[in-house]
Amino acid sequence: MFASKKDIVGIDVGSSAVKIVRLRESRGTFHLENIGIMPLAAETIVDNTIMDSTAVVDSIHNLLNAMKIKTKRVATSVSGHSVIIRKISLPNMTDAELEASIQWEAEQYIPFDISEVNIDFQILGSDAKDPSQMDVMLVAAKRDFVDDYTSLFAEAGLEPVVMDIDCFAVENMFDYNYGFVDNEVVALIDMGASATSVSVLSGNVSIFNRDIQTGGNLLSAELQKRLGVSSEEAERAKLGDRNIADVDSDSIDDILTDAIENLVQEVQRSLDFFAATSSEDRVTKVYLTGGVSNSEKVRETLEERLGISAERVDPFRNVKINEKEFDAEYLDAIGPMFSVAAGLAMRKVGDK
Ligand SMILES: Nc1ncnc2c1ncn2[C@@H]1O[C@H](COP(=O)(O)OP(=O)(O)OP(=O)(O)O)[C@@H](O)[C@H]1O
Ligand SMILES: [Mg+2]
Repeated sequence: MFASKKDIVGIDVGSSAVKIVRLRESRGTFHLENIGIMPLAAETIVDNTIMDSTAVVDSIHNLLNAMKIKTKRVATSVSGHSVIIRKISLPNMTDAELEASIQWEAEQYIPFDISEVNIDFQILGSDAKDPSQMDVMLVAAKRDFVDDYTSLFAEAGLEPVVMDIDCFAVENMFDYNYGFVDNEVVALIDMGASATSVSVLSGNVSIFNRDIQTGGNLLSAELQKRLGVSSEEAERAKLGDRNIADVDSDSIDDILTDAIENLVQEVQRSLDFFAATSSEDRVTKVYLTGGVSNSEKVRETLEERLGISAERVDPFRNVKINEKEFDAEYLDAIGPMFSVAAGLAMRKVGDK
């Protein structure tokens, strides 16, 4: 009770950049204190594995220094194939009973040795089809994978007081800014550089989560391969630059159209899988975030393919911004890359 209620700093170690957000809470409203991003070289993090931990530690360090942040307590998150998130059905029992038996109950759903994972769960409520059963969201993360992240932060002199999962941080950010709507089923999609996470929310409950191991890098890789340009040129072309030597802009557009189609198809496949395995209503709206959601073409293609509206999420929609300190236009442009970091910065010590 007397513990400091100081807000914690949200740090998202994405594969393309480290992103940091610091918020201050006052009477239930968050105010933006600080925001910063530090790009990481392409080979630093591959397939969610940290290949060059020194580079990551240095980036975190430099970014915190540049932002003049002295706080040591941070909230961070992990994602990828070492993290399993599944909704399962179990016989009704109390939280304490499940706590005692979760290892045993979870075993069959986890593709790793049960002794090598950290397990967490949340009881969602009773099973719509069978009242003697209840729905449980099971989260399991490989311990050595989480330990790698924890030691990275220790090396940077920081204490991760909250260790979250990327998609839950995004859901947290979404809840604050948009609010969950009762009886509405929406998909929240975070399209990053190397991964895309799909969450389906029904009211305030997350009922489906999938990580797709592809993202914006796919678009630049296709441009690079098919145009025979450098990775820097491909990245520029992806972001809209049409002045690439010896390349006509139509071919850039054609390649991008194809690659975006493929990316969107992956998302569609996930949502089809959700629809096929769930008794819940269909998804009626898509909320898009992550750097790739800056592409209007991606948003439009998703809308066309899925036949429902897709809206770009503003992670600072309900966050108070001092316009003398932060340029609104710039914040809007970089916003989608900060969905995870913003959701993390909204956590409190003691949150899971
Ligand atoms: N206007 C844009 N059009 C297309 N892609 C964009 C645009 N702006 C940013 N991106 C892409 O978004 C990606 C970065 O997004 P984000 O910061 O969400 O990824 P990340 O968190 O680092 O990656 P991951 O979560 O996959 O590890 C990069 O691939 C970048 O090229
Ligand atoms: Mg990300």
